[in-house]
Amino acid sequence: MATHDIALSDTGQPLGPLAERGWSLHCSKGTGADAIVSDLGKLADRLGTRVAGRAGALEEVIEPHGADDAHPRSLSARYGLEALPFHTELSHRTRPCRYLLLGCIDPGSPAAATTLLDWRTLGFSSEELDLLEGTPVLVRSGRRSFYSTILAPGGAFLRYDPGCLEAVNQRGRMALALIGDRIATASPQAHHWRQGDILIIDNWRVLHGRSPSDQGSSRRLARILIDV
Ligand SMILES: [Fe+2]
Repeated sequence: MATHDIALSDTGQPLGPLAERGWSLHCSKGTGADAIVSDLGKLADRLGTRVAGRAGALEEVIEPHGADDAHPRSLSARYGLEALPFHTELSHRTRPCRYLLLGCIDPGSPAAATTLLDWRTLGFSSEELDLLEGTPVLVRSGRRSFYSTILAPGGAFLRYDPGCLEAVNQRGRMALALIGDRIATASPQAHHWRQGDILIIDNWRVLHGRSPSDQGSSRRLARILIDV
């Protein structure tokens, strides 16, 4: 899988690129965790309303977890410190959050990149889009599990997370295999974090993942999730 680095010159751009390509890169002026989290919050509140993540907090600091100490239904529980596969944040909710904001408190050493992939660049034909929009799959979320489709009506968002989506019939298996195959041959972008970097991701359009990490790499990202 070829990966392209995001150019340094992208730093500090306004929100225009978010609409154009589905993500934008900003730079916090502060260096301490409090300043970075505060700048992240200011950007987040320009976009919509904060929603709680899996642990119930409106603002979180995430670190690479080994499989043993991760949330039992999270991707980390399955993949641990290996590369985290591309996914839509909060796929296990009926409507995944619209934006995901990440701010780098510490890139860690060795550092792990965040990878980005616009699902609209995956080249789905109209028949394939029909398959993704018309095939029910099971979204596993404990007692709140439900049936949904990978592609929302009209293509409003793509729900994809190998940790919680499960086929219930042959067409569902085809739909999940189709996405997996396209992702495997795609050319995603990789953002290599520096302290103070803030990434805004349109979660309805751009899938994200993480390159492999290391236990105790000290990588710490602040995360805020936004609904509109
Ligand atoms: Fe994620």
